[in-house]
Amino acid sequence: MNGDYLPLTRPAIDEQTIAGVVEVLRSGWITSGPKVREFETRLSALFGGRPVRALNSGTGTLEVGLALAGVVAGDEVITTPLSWVATANVIVRAGARPVFVDVDPVTRNIDLERIEAAITPRTRALLPVDLAGLPVDRTRLYALARHHGLRVIEDAAQSMGASWDGRRIGAIGDLVSISFHANKNITTAEGGCLVLNDAAEARACELWRLQGVERFADGELDATLPGGKYNLTDIAARIGLGQLERLEEFTARRRALARLYFEHFERTPGCQLPVPDFTNSNWHMFQIVLPTHVARPAFIRAMHAAGIGVGVHYPAIHLLSFYRQQGFGPGQFPQAERIGRGIVTLPLFPAMRDEDVVRVCRESARILRGRPVAAGTAAG
Ligand SMILES: Cc1ncc(COP(=O)(O)O)c(C=O)c1O
Repeated sequence: MNGDYLPLTRPAIDEQTIAGVVEVLRSGWITSGPKVREFETRLSALFGGRPVRALNSGTGTLEVGLALAGVVAGDEVITTPLSWVATANVIVRAGARPVFVDVDPVTRNIDLERIEAAITPRTRALLPVDLAGLPVDRTRLYALARHHGLRVIEDAAQSMGASWDGRRIGAIGDLVSISFHANKNITTAEGGCLVLNDAAEARACELWRLQGVERFADGELDATLPGGKYNLTDIAARIGLGQLERLEEFTARRRALARLYFEHFERTPGCQLPVPDFTNSNWHMFQIVLPTHVARPAFIRAMHAAGIGVGVHYPAIHLLSFYRQQGFGPGQFPQAERIGRGIVTLPLFPAMRDEDVVRVCRESARILRGRPVAAGTAAG
């Protein structure tokens, strides 16, 4: 490995934000308080005035979103098999059944054409994912949801800063769940937010967020539902406030870097590139799908040896052990399986330099021309 290591991603936390966090630490109020409320107000303004509540993860926002959508034991929720496993785990943890629908081979998002065939009388909600920040077609998605009377919990964990038809993701739709995990386009280290429909839903979200507890002016309290422990800290919210200031700058830089990837990535080794969308996508990730003759572990090893961090987001969920135990298996969702076997995430983060992209493309081309194969196998 050379000394100039290029990581897959890196958060950009500025000195002003660090100073702001120090102030919170000195303030005597470090858990949920004024900074969380300020963060929620700013998020709400960004999302066209819709109510927003901040939680301590994008998994928590999905769990609370499912509860608010009325998903209960025995229900079915339609989702994609090509996502972070949290997307399906939250459905199982709600006592419901994930019904996977294969992905579109081009967008890598849930194939909207196939959703209707998966709807049954038990279907309660749709839970689509904007993989890598490329939005699912919201016009068609909501036409389907309305037609079948289904709730939508958008797993927009990766879509902060993305848009659909000129409107920001979060400013439109039903329940919208966003993650602020460290690798997301803006971060609170860990955290997330849920965009809601009205004040009553926002109040219910607050109850699910913190033990279902209501407090009264006379100091008494009551618990009206079995809520969890999902509240965000003021420390985290202060990081988020600093990050929000820079959302447009970060998105513009990610788009510029993605354009550079398209300019420099060598097409001949047969990799599938992402959709070149510079209007809607926030370019949370730049992902290629390796040709089938290339062994992904060997490619990743060679990239690491060249000092470049790469990632796998994600293997198909239904092939993970727990989901196989639930009866899912190979051959059910061939597009997700093929993409899940070959997908590789290349470095992309706002502080990356143009020459870093050129280097990643050069090293990828060199390695792919050598047709990397797994140890002990021959090139196919
Ligand atoms: C598509 C998707 N869904 C859900 C999550 C869960 O978010 P968090 O890690 O904040 O719990 C993530 C984050 O990694 C994600 O990428």
